[in-house]
Amino acid sequence: ARITLRQLLDHAAEHGYAVPAFNISNMEQGLSVMAAAKAANAPVILQASRGARAYAGDRVLARLIDGLTETYPEIPICMHLDHGNNLATCVTAIQNGFTSVMMDGSLRADGKTPADYAYNVEITRQVVAMAHAAGVSVEGELGVLGSLETGMGDQEDGHGATEQLDEHQLLTNPEEAKKFVDDTGVDALAVAMGTSHGAYKFTRKPDGDILAMHVIEEIHRKLPNTHLVMHGSSSVPEDLQAIINDFGGDIRPTWGVPVEEIQRGIKSGVRKVNIDTDNRLAMTAAIRKTLAEDPSEFDPRKYLKPAMTMMTKVCKDRFEAFGAAGHA
Ligand code: G3H
Ligand code: 13P
Ligand code: NA
Ligand code: ZN
Repeated sequence: ARITLRQLLDHAAEHGYAVPAFNISNMEQGLSVMAAAKAANAPVILQASRGARAYAGDRVLARLIDGLTETYPEIPICMHLDHGNNLATCVTAIQNGFTSVMMDGSLRADGKTPADYAYNVEITRQVVAMAHAAGVSVEGELGVLGSLETGMGDQEDGHGATEQLDEHQLLTNPEEAKKFVDDTGVDALAVAMGTSHGAYKFTRKPDGDILAMHVIEEIHRKLPNTHLVMHGSSSVPEDLQAIINDFGGDIRPTWGVPVEEIQRGIKSGVRKVNIDTDNRLAMTAAIRKTLAEDPSEFDPRKYLKPAMTMMTKVCKDRFEAFGAAGHA
């Protein structure tokens, strides 16, 4: 059944777990996530970015969500807009059946330029007023995702801030977070503590200097009842990097967010954990391997099926690691 983010995360908070939010942009990814949710008996957040909506088209995406919900009536599903950038993208998501929207006002509508607090509050309040009137939840974001190693905002996927940022922008201020939640009425708050989108998050296994989990703990002390969201939370598993590189790929040495750091966050109010890159890596690893092992194969189902199997395994691992398994 389709439920809101608020309903899902209230239950997660009550029982001390987090729900992974998996990005999807096609049928294979949707089916893979749902197979994992079913196997883990877990509630799920499916999320689509503006890029995913443009890729699949809103009508196809809406029917895909309908199909997945009807196929898995026993699994609570939240359909969430990832990184909405203005009122219109949030409205059209709701018109297409989304039960939750993110208004990312940490950046201006261009999705690149860091926004000031006043802009963020104003646009987020507008989205909350509109969405809540429609029975839809809202995630806001305070602080800009980016690397504490380089001071650069997201750059790998080309849709984040590209200018040099200071630590004050890259780490959410706990006092300001409290004010932001009061000022906007968001249902969940995405915070910045050194993660970034894509495969290249850290040049070494992250410690507290470059992955500031202590910031989440401080925010949770100020806002014990607010559901916190971690973006850029792929772990970028070494074994998936190795398969891709063994079969003709070229992934530079890199580190993601260790699962045990996310588990630490879950003890401090983290209830939604965004994952896209790990699933992209899983599908690509399986496709490269399958085609390398049988160069004569040309039926897409023959390589997409193993890709789905590998993605389902990643998703199931995360449901279990975040404590969501068994809570459907
Ligand atoms: O926000 C980041 C997600 O990984 C979505 O990425 O905009 O390339 O679809 P995308
Ligand atoms: P990853 O790139 O680490 O998977 O993060 C995805 C994300 O935060 C989507 O909003
Ligand atoms: Na989101
Ligand atoms: Zn994100």
